[in-house]
Amino acid sequence: MNSSVNHPATVETGRLLSPPGFDVEAIRRDFPILHQQINGYPLAYLDSAASTQRPIQVIDAISRYYTHDHANVHRGVHTLSHRATDIYEGARESVRSFINARSTREIVFTRGTTEAINLVAATLGQRLTAGDEILISAMEHHSNIVPWQMLCERKGTILRVAPINDQGELLFDEFEKLLGKRTRLVAITHVSNALGSVNPVREIIASAHAHGIPVLIDGAQAIAHQSVDVQALDCDFYAFSSHKMCGPTGIGALYGREALLETLPPYQGGGDMILTVSFSGTTYNELPYRLEAGTPHIAGAAGLGAAVDYLRQVGMDNIASHEAELLTYASNALSALPGLQLVGTAAHKAGVVSFNVDGIHPHDVGTVLDQHGVAIRAGHHCAMPVMERFGIPGTARASFAFYNTRAEIDQMIDALRLAIRMFA
Ligand code: ALA
Repeated sequence: MNSSVNHPATVETGRLLSPPGFDVEAIRRDFPILHQQINGYPLAYLDSAASTQRPIQVIDAISRYYTHDHANVHRGVHTLSHRATDIYEGARESVRSFINARSTREIVFTRGTTEAINLVAATLGQRLTAGDEILISAMEHHSNIVPWQMLCERKGTILRVAPINDQGELLFDEFEKLLGKRTRLVAITHVSNALGSVNPVREIIASAHAHGIPVLIDGAQAIAHQSVDVQALDCDFYAFSSHKMCGPTGIGALYGREALLETLPPYQGGGDMILTVSFSGTTYNELPYRLEAGTPHIAGAAGLGAAVDYLRQVGMDNIASHEAELLTYASNALSALPGLQLVGTAAHKAGVVSFNVDGIHPHDVGTVLDQHGVAIRAGHHCAMPVMERFGIPGTARASFAFYNTRAEIDQMIDALRLAIRMFA
């Protein structure tokens, strides 16, 4: 987040304090899906942490690709194959530049954050031995827990978990104490999907590096909400999903520092990841292809490239400021409701508000809100250990993107007032 996220914006009734030149209504016109009625109410889509929506520019890029340009990549001598390859590799360059990686060799396309983390667990994990440790935090979602647990089952490695406080903030001193002689990787989220906490990733990375330990950042909930510069962060891996940044589902990327990626064994075997194959042996391709077996999600890359272009056009600092304002507005309005508790009150938060209402199950909150056109997520948010930490089965969670408005938050608050009266 830029610094504005960390300080509550001044909220003036009836006026949106978005950055100058940021026109949320113009942006909303780019998102066809937002303009519909749900159960007789205008849709208020407040579930962007689960998946963002796509602007028409992304939808058109995918449609154009299938209508004019589709063929397989890296294989054909014909024109369509060249075009598809240019689109696919063009998207890689867009992603590289978006996160300021040094080279496109450092951008590996995957199915998403989950596969990116599994790729690291499967490859870097191969050289770990029993007793080696992976350090994560207590605010991880399942994608950054289970791949490491599976590695522990295979290799006898040990999963260490840095604790969080009651506000949902990493206990940095405890984290540092867990960096030991056997720690082989720190894998930690940039932004908690369930709590909205923004981790001090620069400090985490610097601290791990002081011990010679590489760091993987799970950027799924950060990538579309603030600018990410992998060189400035100095991270070793950064994983993210296209569908949480206005692109298509089924594609994402793993950034990896080139020198480290070079040392990884192949991930999956198949086409594209090889140079030569014979029955006596196979030689592998160069980066990043060595880690991308099989025909990739070319249309997904076309959409992801368009999504990156779109986000850059809106401006990541504008996005961060607008979402910070929505977060402050929503947190203030929710806190004023009787019987409502916010879960996750870190000083540094992204546009995610988790809450519970006395006497109403989160799923019932979600259902009543849906009846009033408001889409939120209810449950454990694929982060069951976070719920366990707070001693709750789940939360209702509203999450914001740059296309959201105060009016949508008002719609949620009105529906919540009704729910509270209904269940009283
Ligand atoms: N991890 C996604 C979420 O937070 C699915 O909802």
